[in-house]
Amino acid sequence: MMVLAVKVPTKLGEQVRRKLIELGKFDERYKIRREGGFLLIPVKEPIEGFEIIEADLEPKEIRPRSYKEVVNIPEELRRYLPTSFDIIGDLAVVEIPEELKGYEKEIGKAILKVHKGIRGVFAKGSKIVGEYRVRELIHLAGENRTETLHKENGIRLKLDISKVYFSPRLATERMRVFNMAKEGEVVFDMFAGVGPYSILLSRKAKLVFACDINPWAIKYLEENIRLNKSFNVIPILGDVRKVSGLIKADRIIMNLPKFAKDFLPYAFESAKPGSVIHYYGFGPESDPYGEHIKEIEKVANEFSFKIEILGKRIVRNYAPRQYNIAIDFKVIS
Ligand SMILES: C[S@@+](CC[C@H](N)C(=O)[O-])C[C@H]1O[C@@H](n2cnc3c(N)ncnc32)[C@H](O)[C@@H]1O
Repeated sequence: MMVLAVKVPTKLGEQVRRKLIELGKFDERYKIRREGGFLLIPVKEPIEGFEIIEADLEPKEIRPRSYKEVVNIPEELRRYLPTSFDIIGDLAVVEIPEELKGYEKEIGKAILKVHKGIRGVFAKGSKIVGEYRVRELIHLAGENRTETLHKENGIRLKLDISKVYFSPRLATERMRVFNMAKEGEVVFDMFAGVGPYSILLSRKAKLVFACDINPWAIKYLEENIRLNKSFNVIPILGDVRKVSGLIKADRIIMNLPKFAKDFLPYAFESAKPGSVIHYYGFGPESDPYGEHIKEIEKVANEFSFKIEILGKRIVRNYAPRQYNIAIDFKVIS
């Protein structure tokens, strides 16, 4: 394509290119071309003091930054396009609003096109439901496969997104818990899933008891123990209510926010003076922690324990005006 270019001897090329960028004149839509002992550098307009010619330069391939730039939907619906989606291994899971019904596959195709590492795209087909905390998924584009290998915090996790709970959005939270943990602890991961907390914490812990009621979660946890050589993680398939009485731990993770309060007695059953409990719940924007702290204190009292709050924070938005919160507390005799 014929465009304006500055012609400079090759040995001055880099210096001139930098100067043109500094002046805001460099035209980054085209590639620089070498011709004999000269470079032809594309510019937006003529600049005094430089030799300007018309040159045939190749346009640069501009890769779209977002799937929104390539998605094929009516213009007036663009504002409803989701701004983010979850990436688990090489699969994407997107929540599509009502307004975009009928365009799901177009969104799937656009995500595949822009994100080279993604092989399959799924839409959320329901809320997270049931004891296993899983949701329905609808295949939109690419491979119709739900098993994948996800990497986070230096560990590898194999899982099936249609059979087990997993949220990549908790990676930072898990690292925060890891940073609080001490060497040589006994950890009890009451709702372990495929092991993102258990396997990470096994890097510091002496022993990790990892319980889950979903047989698929335990199957993948066993595989992940092998993948990461985390042989100090003990997988337990079953209802944590039947297990908690058999374990005493230094650190207890309660990652079942929907039913957190109901399981507090079982966490205290596994606690001893000095144990730290990482409690997760959902709370309203107006007072995200209040009801949870009240319940924690009530149950602690029933066990003749006192508690010391070590920290509390909002982990992420859960629903409109609802937060997923975390409370870390220490059990005191
Ligand atoms: C929100 S998920 C958390 C999984 C994992 N900690 C993570 O971060 O990915 C909660 C898990 O608790 C398990 N679960 C639910 N009720 C249970 C129970 N009574 N006993 C043991 N596990 C249970 C579910 O199967 C699910 O895998």
